[in-house]
Amino acid sequence: MLTILVLISIFVIQVLGHGRVTSPKPRGGGTKHQAACGAAVAKVLSSDPAGPIENAVAKIDSSYNATACHLYFCRGYNVGVSPNRWEDNTSNTRKYKAGQVVPFTIDIVAHHTGTANVSVVNLTTQKVIGSPLIYWKVYSNTSIPISQKPANETAFNVTIPSLPSGHYALQWWWWAYSNKQTYESCIDFTI
Ligand SMILES: *[C@@H]1O[C@H](CO)[C@@H](O)[C@H](O)[C@H]1NC(C)=O
Ligand SMILES: *[C@@H]1O[C@H](CO)[C@@H](O)[C@H](O)[C@H]1NC(C)=O
Ligand SMILES: *[C@@H]1O[C@H](CO)[C@@H](O)[C@H](O)[C@H]1NC(C)=O
Ligand SMILES: *[C@@H]1O[C@H](CO)[C@@H](O)[C@H](O)[C@H]1NC(C)=O
Ligand SMILES: *[C@@H]1O[C@H](CO)[C@@H](O)[C@H](O)[C@H]1NC(C)=O
Ligand SMILES: *[C@@H]1O[C@H](CO)[C@@H](O)[C@H](O)[C@H]1NC(C)=O
Ligand SMILES: *[C@@H]1O[C@H](CO)[C@@H](O)[C@H](O)[C@H]1NC(C)=O
Repeated sequence: MLTILVLISIFVIQVLGHGRVTSPKPRGGGTKHQAACGAAVAKVLSSDPAGPIENAVAKIDSSYNATACHLYFCRGYNVGVSPNRWEDNTSNTRKYKAGQVVPFTIDIVAHHTGTANVSVVNLTTQKVIGSPLIYWKVYSNTSIPISQKPANETAFNVTIPSLPSGHYALQWWWWAYSNKQTYESCIDFTI
C-alpha cells in the first residue's frame, strides 16, 4: 500500500512539473510548433508548462523534425522560416527599452539543485547574447528548507541591456544537474 502511495506521489510530481516563469507571460506553442516537433512532443510541452524538456525529448517520434525543432532553445517554440524562426504566439511580445527593469516571477513546483540564469537570446542563431543578466551558480538547492530559500530564486529583476533594434527573447534557463533536467521559458520582446 505504502509503495503504491509513493508511486502515485512520484507520478503526481512528474505530471505537475517543476518550474517556469509566470510573469512576464512566456511564449506558448502553436500549429507551427506542432508541425515541427510532432504532436506527441507538443502535447507534453503544452500539458505541463513547468515540466522538464527531457519529458518532451522522451516522446520524440517519427513526426519530429530535428532540423526544425530545437527543444533546448525556448522549449522548441522557435520554429518556422521567418528571419527569427518564430511564427507562433507572436502577439505575446513586449516592447522594452535599454535600461528598463523587468520584474520576474517564477513558479518552482518541485526543487532540484542546479544552476540558472536569464539571458538575452538571438532568435535567428538560437544563441545567448553576451553575459547572463542574472546568474545563480546554485539554484533551488534541495538541502535548504523552502522557508529559507533565497527570495531571489522566485522574484527578481533584470535590466535590459543596450541592443541593436530587433526581436529578441529573455530566456530563463534552469539546469537541475542533480536530476539532469532542463527547464526553460522565453519572454519575447522587441527593442
Ligand atoms: C499566446 O499569446 C496570447 C497573448 O497574446 C495568450 O493569451 C495565449 O494564451 C498564448 N498562447 C499560448 C499557446 O500560450
Ligand atoms: C524539416 O524542417 C526543415 C526546416 O524547416 C524543412 O526544410 C524540411 O522540409 C522539414 N522536413 C519535413 C520532412 O517536413
Ligand atoms: C545561461 O543559460 C544559457 C541558456 O539560455 C546556457 O546555455 C548557459 O550555459 C548559461 N550560462 C551559465 C553561466 O550558466
Ligand atoms: C540571491 O540571494 C542570495 C541570498 O541572499 C545571495 O547569496 C545570492 O547572491 C543572490 N543571487 C542573485 C543572483 O542575486
Ligand atoms: C546546498 O545547501 C547545503 C546546506 O546549506 C550546503 O551544505 C550545500 O553546499 C549546498 N549545495 C551547493 C551545491 O551549494
Ligand atoms: C525590482 O525593482 C523595483 C524598482 O524598479 C523594486 O521596487 C523592486 O523591489 C525590485 N524587485 C526585486 C525582487 O528586487
Ligand atoms: C542575430 O544574429 C544574426 C546572425 O549573426 C544577425 O544577423 C541578427 O542581426 C541578430 N539578430 C538580432 C535581433 O540582433
